Amino acid sequence: MKWYCAATVLEALDALETKRTDVDLPLRFCVQDVYRFDGRRIIAGRIETGKLRVGDQLVFSPANKSSVVATIERWNVPANDLAIAGDSVGVTLSEQIFVERGYVASHESETPIETNRFHADLFWIVREPLRVGHPYDLRLATQELKCEIVSIEEMMNSSTLERKIDQREQLERNEVGRLTIQTRGPLVIDNHDRIPNLGRFVLVDDGQICGGGTIFGGVYTDRQVAKSKNIFWSEGKITARARAARSGHRGAVIWFTGLSGAGKSTIAQALERELFHRAMHTYVLDGDNIRHGLNSNLGFSPEDRVENIRRVSEVAKLMADAGAVVITAFISPYRMDRRRAREIALEGNAEFVEVFVDAPLEVCETRDPKNLYKKARAGEIRDFTGIGAPYEAPEDPEIVVHTDQQTVDESVATILEQLLPRLRAEEANE
Ligand code: ADX
Repeated sequence: MKWYCAATVLEALDALETKRTDVDLPLRFCVQDVYRFDGRRIIAGRIETGKLRVGDQLVFSPANKSSVVATIERWNVPANDLAIAGDSVGVTLSEQIFVERGYVASHESETPIETNRFHADLFWIVREPLRVGHPYDLRLATQELKCEIVSIEEMMNSSTLERKIDQREQLERNEVGRLTIQTRGPLVIDNHDRIPNLGRFVLVDDGQICGGGTIFGGVYTDRQVAKSKNIFWSEGKITARARAARSGHRGAVIWFTGLSGAGKSTIAQALERELFHRAMHTYVLDGDNIRHGLNSNLGFSPEDRVENIRRVSEVAKLMADAGAVVITAFISPYRMDRRRAREIALEGNAEFVEVFVDAPLEVCETRDPKNLYKKARAGEIRDFTGIGAPYEAPEDPEIVVHTDQQTVDESVATILEQLLPRLRAEEANE
């Protein structure tokens, strides 16, 4: 079979599945532009899926700000209170929030995924091979941003359908690869099997479409929506880019996760010192310390751990928004909470890097610096992570250090090597 362009590939992939009609899917309203008209701000875009009504509470991703639809405007058609998939409309909101091209509006109960890292199957259609580490432009609905391929985990030849599970650095024409992709900045996506319209994208190199992909395996988190009514978001006038230009680096959240005794605090402090010596604004938020103050009312039940990580995620986001490189050192045992931490940081225009501080449980237990494993084994501490409570290791962290094999300095060097390029001021968003 011959393929001519990425759009054909994507349409073919769509046609393979038995779909519900687009109108029955959750709402995805993709913003194309924002106009000022008669003193009103009209948000123009296309409803890719679902329905939108006057009075609906919309959540705009990636900012995660919400507002109510005041009117639906159409060109050359009388105003109407309902718009559906396929319609291109303008919307005015009852509260003015910052919205721009690329944002996606949804209903609160069915929000999309916000991430800067995801998995996809990609069909490559040009002679020049796809290369790991090479920058490409990614286009998904009205979003366009730079990305790079982190790894190719698997590949399939589209003519022979032969499958190979091997790590590679390139993908040739007519090959389908299973990849991990990292974007510079937040991307709003859906899994292709849930909402195809937001689950497919194309990669562009030098203005030319080179491949088309479908997204899979993304995890939907529960977005917290503000409980209080009558609160308004006031937009700051100083951009992340302006702050980065002054400090020489962008704001970031470096999220350490790992068992107690794995070395999170030690490496976090050593990393902080290195960044500080490079004249960066940096600060460590450490589990034990934060539990003395901000989170002193929280214990180690699953609910309390979720709340612990939620608060820390919000604090880290604020500090990163202020321009700091925040290093967090919490066990953060639940994958879902770490995903939410990523979304929260991205909402604040910060870089987010997950670092798995990995050491086998036996090693942590032998180290037992605070004698807590002994107490847990003796039944004196219930719900101790790794003993009576779970630890969900990251499936796809940006960085892994093995503290049973690497010294502290080696771990810090591993982290710095991957981290520093991503903190460059030029990488900051508007
Ligand atoms: S988290 O699970 O909510 O992320 P956090 O990193 O804040 O945990 O706190 C972990 C620290 O609290 C450990 O390093 C340890 O010193 C202490 N601690 C006390 N009880 C427990 C427990 N049941 N499980 C894990 N750590 C505990």
